[in-house]
Amino acid sequence: MSTSATPPLQPFAIRFGADNATLEPQGPTLQRRMSDLEGLFADRRAWEQAVADGDPVVYTVVSSPVPETARELPQSITTIFPGDTGGEFWMTKGHQHPDPQGEIYLGLEGHGGLLLFDGERAEWLDISPGVIGYIPPGWAHRSVNVGDEPYRFLAVYPGSAGHDYGWVLTHGMGLRARRSADRVELVPFGTPAGTAGPTARSH
Ligand code: 6PG
Ligand code: NI
Repeated sequence: MSTSATPPLQPFAIRFGADNATLEPQGPTLQRRMSDLEGLFADRRAWEQAVADGDPVVYTVVSSPVPETARELPQSITTIFPGDTGGEFWMTKGHQHPDPQGEIYLGLEGHGGLLLFDGERAEWLDISPGVIGYIPPGWAHRSVNVGDEPYRFLAVYPGSAGHDYGWVLTHGMGLRARRSADRVELVPFGTPAGTAGPTARSH
């Protein structure tokens, strides 16, 4: 199965291949390259350079065949590769669910962060293997790889939630995660690239 199944679904088990993050049976998959992340990194010139320098794959998303329809509960595994662009750790685009509903993430490999923003408050959750991050309804979310190896997590979300990527382009995400020596520096979203974050929080 390589596309979403058609309801009514029958009970079935999904096997996770830990070595290469496959799901069996598997549904839709996607990969996002640097060129797909326009307008997201603070340092636009560094982003343009990265696109010109081979346009690397930043993350992949592998889904189970459970469809994104009402009452179903789709799952996907995201793998964010390690790296930074202009000092900002590689990350997902980030989105809001237009039909606000909760979502859970489970860390599988590597070390990452779950950045949450409700339009006013920003929160950061450290996610490592075995940690479950809860995303309450109405909080936009973005994942960040803050380690030196691929960061991988399972997401489970209501099938009718939808995905709004424009919200993040309009409202930002409250904070950015930057590489600083051997630690993670969280700076206010509007901090210009290359400057020290005056109110940076370190992790
Ligand atoms: C979801 C999950 C998750 C997410 C991926 C990629 O709602 O489906 O939050 O699977 O989509 O981690 O992130 P972006 O959707 O922000 O590119
Ligand atoms: Ni989501």
